[in-house]
Amino acid sequence: MAILVTGGAGYIGSHTVLALLQRGDDVVVLDNLSNASQESIRRVEKLAGKSAVFVEGDVLDRACLRDLFAAHQIDAVIHFAALKAVGESTRKPLEYYENNVSGTVVLLEEMRAANVWNFIFSSSATVYGEHAPVPYVETTQIGGTTSPYGTSKLMIEWVLRDFAKAEPQFNTIALRYFNPVGAHESGEIGEDPSGIPNNLLPYIAQVAIGRLPQLGVFGGDYPTPDGTCQRDYIHVMDLAEGHLKALDHLAKNTGYTAYNLGAGKGYSVLEMIKAFEKASGKTIPFEIKPRRAGDLAAFWADASLADRELDWRVSRGIDEMMRDTWNWQSKNPNGFN
Ligand code: NAD
Ligand code: UD1
Repeated sequence: MAILVTGGAGYIGSHTVLALLQRGDDVVVLDNLSNASQESIRRVEKLAGKSAVFVEGDVLDRACLRDLFAAHQIDAVIHFAALKAVGESTRKPLEYYENNVSGTVVLLEEMRAANVWNFIFSSSATVYGEHAPVPYVETTQIGGTTSPYGTSKLMIEWVLRDFAKAEPQFNTIALRYFNPVGAHESGEIGEDPSGIPNNLLPYIAQVAIGRLPQLGVFGGDYPTPDGTCQRDYIHVMDLAEGHLKALDHLAKNTGYTAYNLGAGKGYSVLEMIKAFEKASGKTIPFEIKPRRAGDLAAFWADASLADRELDWRVSRGIDEMMRDTWNWQSKNPNGFN
């Protein structure tokens, strides 16, 4: 029996594939390499001392999925494959709904045809929308998303909920990630955004390495202690381990359940800059800029449900997040290239 990991060559996928291989699971990776390099999987295999099967292909390609399910006995699917840039999604909504929503539906149809019933989905804190009270808790109704990307995650959660209602054999967990950062402690794999990073930590890391001149801090007048936005940052290895716990739980799970995966604590942009400077010994020049459209002032997770039901909690703090981000960036100034 093997675990199929879609999008397994990407940032969170590659760290999860490593954790799976290290605990002895067999892994099949399906990735179209639209936002990743196969080099990540080569490095994962080297770190694990074990190979994964790599299939270059698309979740929208039924023939590819059929061949894959015929060739491998798949026990569960972890579905990372998606487009994920919020700003781009507002310019290309159809591409986002096609890739993310239709891609998931095609994958579920082919799973059903192949009699595969265990499914873990990469959801996002963004499904809580702009009016949810903080901390975000799973009992809050989801909706009110502000971008096609966010809405695609919301729609997929509804697809999973309805499919689980219709198919009692279908076990599914939606993991709502807060802000994943950091890298494997080896510095061999990490986040390698193409072009100018959209997210805070990769941006800071590229300023530190000299690829970008300075950081723009989006907004200094939010109703937060220092005026900058607060987010719940989570180390990518803690996140990867959350998927292993969720896989274990699927065996007991009936139907559809969603869990927050976050640290349960907010850090401001200025606190993040300071923590990175401490870990790296580099100074990060920054300037306060206007607010970025769509940003919320502050949110973090209530992660107690995952603690109780999945026996999962974070074990790495902000110092490890910064140390490992810098270790990866300084060892790989140009990412996997
Ligand atoms: P990523 O872009 O690094 O990884 C996604 C991978 O999926 C890439 O390797 C890409 O090549 C592949 N892919 C995309 N479309 C595909 C398709 N149609 N068929 C096959 N492969 C395809 O992104 P990530 O940061 O690792 O995110 C993984 C998942 O987690 C995504 O679903 C994302 O929406 C979700 N998520 C990410 C964050 C974050 O901050 N990184 C936060 C919340 C949720
Ligand atoms: C963004 C997405 C969210 C997605 C999440 C995880 C938006 C509006 N939201 O969240 O849907 O789930 O990424 O990847 O894009 N910042 C700066 N300067 C920068 C970059 C960021 O000040 O150059 C600030 C932002 O204003 C924010 C914080 O840093 O306050 C974190 O930003 P980012 O890493 O982009 O994550 P989110 O905006 O929380």
